[in-house]
Amino acid sequence: MLHVPHTPIGALLARRRPGYGLEQPFYTSQEIFDLDVEAIFGRYWIFVGVEADVPEPGDCMVVDVGTTSVLIVRDDDGNVGALHNVCRHRGARIVHEYKGTVGNLVCRYHQWTYGLDGKLLFAEHMAPDFDTTCHGLKRVHLKSLEGLLFICLSENPPGDFDVMAAAMLPYLVPHDLRNTKVAYEEDLIEEGNWKITMENNRECYHCSVNHPELTVPLFAYGFGFSPEKLDEAGREQAHRYECLLDDSHTAWEAEGFPSRTLEHLDDMDTGYRTQRLPLDGDGEAHTLDTKRACKKLLGNITNPKLGALHFWTQPNSWHHFMADHAVTFSVLPLTPDRTLLRTKWLVHKDAVEGVDYDVENLKAVWSATNRQDGELVGFQQSGVKSPAYEPGPYSPYTEGLVDAFANWYVSRLAAQIDG
Ligand code: FES
Ligand SMILES: [Fe+2]
Repeated sequence: MLHVPHTPIGALLARRRPGYGLEQPFYTSQEIFDLDVEAIFGRYWIFVGVEADVPEPGDCMVVDVGTTSVLIVRDDDGNVGALHNVCRHRGARIVHEYKGTVGNLVCRYHQWTYGLDGKLLFAEHMAPDFDTTCHGLKRVHLKSLEGLLFICLSENPPGDFDVMAAAMLPYLVPHDLRNTKVAYEEDLIEEGNWKITMENNRECYHCSVNHPELTVPLFAYGFGFSPEKLDEAGREQAHRYECLLDDSHTAWEAEGFPSRTLEHLDDMDTGYRTQRLPLDGDGEAHTLDTKRACKKLLGNITNPKLGALHFWTQPNSWHHFMADHAVTFSVLPLTPDRTLLRTKWLVHKDAVEGVDYDVENLKAVWSATNRQDGELVGFQQSGVKSPAYEPGPYSPYTEGLVDAFANWYVSRLAAQIDG
């Protein structure tokens, strides 16, 4: 166990300057990386996938978090559960493929066989007094928020998940994510610390110059701007956006689509933020022509112009839910300077590829945006390694949400190492 109230990491946390980036070791040190995996990814709710990853009984998905391997399994009753992917005999990993379908979970080593609920069903050659009921696969806490799967590796998960879930439910229900399918998914390994990946996502300061595709549907001004520095055209655009945001929220809420901002990014253990944002052009989806990418809309939605409902969770996810499709992102740390960004595009489960949607069109904006962000993350990582690096100030207009991420991280890490 780590006891560090007076350790160098404790001191680094204690002297964090609000409104500024983190000091170099938070992005580069193996020791802090290991602590992140244990005290952040090991104790808080992390987003790992969607129910549509395991649509049928027997479907199974492996998610690796640090050295922990978790099986997400749909059992014969249709319930999704999470189990440790570690055989109770001699500890072999049981499932090796990312996704598959199984009858039972059979360890290849000596064929110990577990049910989809983790119960040990069969173990040959064991002693007469061997008790199978004591040797089931260990369970991992899992919650499905309208089909979004969160796990917590701790024995005592933060209790405020349900507070977040209750607040988010009305926003998510209309998009009916349980009745979607994964139309496409993409893993990208970014050459940076996981916190750099998250910080990059928490601002759009960099969008106008770096994301030609994303800024077709998305208003960069939706994420803040400095009022004094705007020129005439900028002021006009900002004003147009403010009016559009307000009018859109009023109209969507009247139609039964909660849209106004909820923000608890650093005042809850299960920190989150949501807001429904208008889109530019035809206003239908994150596509290059701003029209829907899928003819079949989600759930019972009939209005294609619902903008994009953004949902962010600490420490590792963001999501965009539109009338016709949804995009989910999970961030998983690999090493101090490598991070897995896993993106999934979801469409209605009955939508037919080639008829209702075209995968290239569906993924065009975010595939390109992810690649661009991956490059920026790499640039930042290589810069922060330099002895010349010192944390710089965040923009009070466009980087408040980066600051909120850093606040959440610093205060939660401090709470874990003190506690
Ligand atoms: S290690 Fe799994 S059956 Fe022996
Ligand atoms: Fe970006």
